[in-house]
Amino acid sequence: MKIEGKEYRTIWFDEENKAVKIIDQTKLPHQFIIKDLKTIKDAINAIKTMEVRGAPLIGGAAAYGIVLAIMENNDLEFIKKSSEDLIKSRPTAINLQWAVHRMNNKLSLVNPNDFLNIALNEAKEICNEDVKFCKNIGINGLKIIEEIYNKKNDTVNILTHCNAGWLATINWGTATSPIYHAHKKGIPIHVWVDETRPRNQGANLTSYELNEEQIPNTIIADNTGGILMQRGEVDICIVGTDRTLSTGDVCNKIGTYLKALAAHDNNVPFYVALPSSTIDWDIKDFKEIPIEERNPEELSHIEGKDEEGNVKKVLIYPKKSKAKNLAFDITPAKYVTGLITEKGICEASTQGLKNLFK
Ligand code: MRU
Repeated sequence: MKIEGKEYRTIWFDEENKAVKIIDQTKLPHQFIIKDLKTIKDAINAIKTMEVRGAPLIGGAAAYGIVLAIMENNDLEFIKKSSEDLIKSRPTAINLQWAVHRMNNKLSLVNPNDFLNIALNEAKEICNEDVKFCKNIGINGLKIIEEIYNKKNDTVNILTHCNAGWLATINWGTATSPIYHAHKKGIPIHVWVDETRPRNQGANLTSYELNEEQIPNTIIADNTGGILMQRGEVDICIVGTDRTLSTGDVCNKIGTYLKALAAHDNNVPFYVALPSSTIDWDIKDFKEIPIEERNPEELSHIEGKDEEGNVKKVLIYPKKSKAKNLAFDITPAKYVTGLITEKGICEASTQGLKNLFK
């Protein structure tokens, strides 16, 4: 998608400099900085500090992390340790371990002399596949938006949480892909963007990328969705996910569950968009999903631009106060109207997913 009119992906390999290029998302929206990752440590650090974030992009970054590890040291033990460290770097998004396992499975079939070539091709393939899947999510989700538009014949108001936009994937996004497809088709869209405290991915990233694509959007505080739904100002919610169980239970950015409850109470359809790489086929009980707990400083401090244009971090809480920073929550399948995947739309249930993914 575009930034200042120029097409980008969120991650790519620079053949000339033998580096992985990323858009540093900790600097958005105030600065647009492309950064080089040259070592496995760089890749792990980028995932931990959320220079790259969003489940599918974390998967792509982990795949390129294995490439960087091989470039440093083609030794099996080093690759194994690097894989373990990558998997530990963020625990909730399943795409991370999915990508690392896929890379290692591929390597297990070939001669060590071929590791680098094979790993680089596979990392590129993981990213290209994600672009294809996210595009299909958009084509499939477009039908739901079109249906609402045909009934309403007026602007479709969509609420989204966090950033499940193109910045969270390699391109297109998951939750935003149907929005981009509808916009390209000329359907009038307006997006309610949940700010998404504490890191403000909605305000800093979703609103930013929608602005760049000229899609009307309004940032709201995380607690505003409920009254907008009561007033009939939300036609549909579409969110992303970091891990969806085969039961249809959806783990996503903290606050998603409360939006789903409000949507349920107000008969607003609540859809979750995801590529199959985000499905966890093993865990059956959502209580077993590892929920990342991040530094409370993400709550107590906030970053912004002052009047002179300097980006500053300031303390916003009483110095002595404690804070707890759980990064994800779980929306039980019963509150999810449907799952929008690359293969089609299905019920959020074991049977629904089985019908699509034999
Ligand atoms: O902590 P983040 O910013 O990585 O969390 C991102 C989300 O929760 C997204 O909704 C999810 O990864 C889906 S991305 C298409």
